[in-house]
Amino acid sequence: MIRFFIFMSISIGIVCAQNLITPIPKEIKYNKQKAKIGKMLFFDTRLSKDKKVSCASCHKPSNGWSDNKKVSIGVFGQKDTIQTPTVLNAIFNFREFWNGRAKDLKEQVDTTLHNNIEMDMDKNSIEKNVNSIKLYKDMFKKDYVSYKMVVDAIAEFQKTLITPGAKFDRYIEGKVKLSKDELNGYKTFKRLGCITCHNGKNVGGNSFQKIGIIFKYDNCPNDRHSITKISIDKCVYKVPTLRNIALTPPYFHDGSAKTLKSAIEKMAYYNLGYIINEKEIKNIEKFLKTLTGNSPKLSE
Ligand code: HEC
Ligand code: HEC
Repeated sequence: MIRFFIFMSISIGIVCAQNLITPIPKEIKYNKQKAKIGKMLFFDTRLSKDKKVSCASCHKPSNGWSDNKKVSIGVFGQKDTIQTPTVLNAIFNFREFWNGRAKDLKEQVDTTLHNNIEMDMDKNSIEKNVNSIKLYKDMFKKDYVSYKMVVDAIAEFQKTLITPGAKFDRYIEGKVKLSKDELNGYKTFKRLGCITCHNGKNVGGNSFQKIGIIFKYDNCPNDRHSITKISIDKCVYKVPTLRNIALTPPYFHDGSAKTLKSAIEKMAYYNLGYIINEKEIKNIEKFLKTLTGNSPKLSE
């Protein structure tokens, strides 16, 4: 019976969700001066307790602005507890973090700076460190830089980290064709029901869903349940974006899928109850690769 309901809701979802992947906007409004300072702060290790960790230590531009490890290393060599997601297009997520506990990028930055594994700072130590650097005061054009200004600037910089121009976006705009395999992959993605959860601008990032709907997933730390304490929220996470997904292995909150193919295979199994064949996996992978967009221009 339960399976029937899941099947029905996914089927209805498929019908409603046709073509519900929308392009990443080519531009976004942001304050240039703030973002410029935010960029420096993003790469500045003086924002962490041991002065060795910056945002970019874990969100590496060369790894799709995430980390190729199962978990990243924070201050004093401590291991983080969950896989590092990308910050690319994070502005388009309806909430931030795997369990969505931050409502926007400002809340995310504030939480991250305080996190005792990641940066382990507080308002006073951030203000002390930043105000000891003349360049920041000059750039902010202030005698004293407040914690809030720092948080605002980093959040503003993150707005610039968007990736328009992906092949798939140009396809939906009617500018290019997908190859036969890519198109088959996209059709399979829709037919199986992947698109019921992975849709919108970010091909995800707009709802909370469970991992292990059909077959139970065993390892669910820091899930939505850890926030809401409601039992149906066990193993529920924010659906991650599939934008630039080819650049950010390993996959899942626990980093348990080493390759994109393995993530595709496991998703089909755990969330849709399908054992899909090699050809289907390959084609979906080819389709997902068309979601890689242009890297953000960092020069501005
Ligand atoms: C030690 C590694 C580490 C450092 C340093 C770090 N992050 Fe993260 N970041 C993570 C991890 C791990 C998560 C996921 C945490 C969670 O969901 O509970 C994350 C989540 C995020 C997210 C949410 C993305 C999403 O899809 O929900 C954003 C945005 C982000 N970080 C930006 C930053 C910024 C800005 C800084 C610097 C102020 C920073 N991070 C520093 C590891 C790190
Ligand atoms: C019922 C909703 C749902 C469906 C259907 C679904 N997914 Fe997911 N997907 C999720 C959630 C939730 C996660 C995060 C899982 C985790 O790490 O705990 C996820 C994670 C992923 C990831 C890894 C992302 C990352 O950054 O680690 C990939 C790749 C993926 N899904 C692809 C697919 C494909 C391909 C299909 C269809 C075969 C599919 N998904 C079907 C909800 C769904």
